[in-house]
Amino acid sequence: MSLIHEIDFGTPRSKAEKMVTLTIDGQSISVPEGTSIMRAAMEMGTQIPKLCATDMVDAYGSCRLCLVE
Ligand code: FES
Repeated sequence: MSLIHEIDFGTPRSKAEKMVTLTIDGQSISVPEGTSIMRAAMEMGTQIPKLCATDMVDAYGSCRLCLVE
């Protein structure tokens, strides 16, 4: 028996070609322009708590759980 673990990045992948670099918790990461902070954090292994966010639909921010500063 095997289980497939798919990572949910919280928001869909940006289709932009231009890359931007940002710093989260002291770590730099380059992502396509328009990438959400939630997705960028998840790509570097930092999980931001979320309820309504999924990478299968556009972000709409209804629960307000994923607050970052
Ligand atoms: S997870 Fe961000 S508003 Fe719901």
